[in-house]
Amino acid sequence: MYPEEDLGPAEERMTLFLIQYWGGPRGYSERRGHPRLRMRHAPFRVDRAAQGAWLRHMRAAVDTLHLRQDLEEQLWGYFVSAAAVMINTPEEPATPQDPRPPGRPKSASLALLRRKPL
Ligand code: HEM
Repeated sequence: MYPEEDLGPAEERMTLFLIQYWGGPRGYSERRGHPRLRMRHAPFRVDRAAQGAWLRHMRAAVDTLHLRQDLEEQLWGYFVSAAAVMINTPEEPATPQDPRPPGRPKSASLALLRRKPL
């Protein structure tokens, strides 16, 4: 999904962004301008599958750091919530289906609906 063959520049952008996000030098914005991360992800299809893959890789990376537990929780919590915000492509809607299977009398299907929790 990353368009460049060489992932070095992408790694550098991510590194600079994270340094800046956590209060360090503003190298990211000096080179790239305002982060506007949702907008920068707009050209890419970020769906639940991409989010899952991204988080799996980040989880593996975070695991290599052996951070203190509170710091790890803070970092991981940030990644999980930021990744959810980055989703820009909803899943395909399920095929629309008549909730009443053919042949089933209307009253029975209404009874089924009534039993569903709200
Ligand atoms: C949800 C799953 C995500 C996917 C599939 C994804 C994918 C991508 C892709 C394909 C790019 C373009 C490669 C590049 O030019 O660098 C990119 C850029 C970037 N992503 Fe993500 N991303 C995700 C989540 C996140 C999150 C949560 C963050 C921040 C915590 C983030 C930070 C960045 C940054 C800083 C860039 C470089 C932006 C730029 O300056 O052009 N991404 N991402």
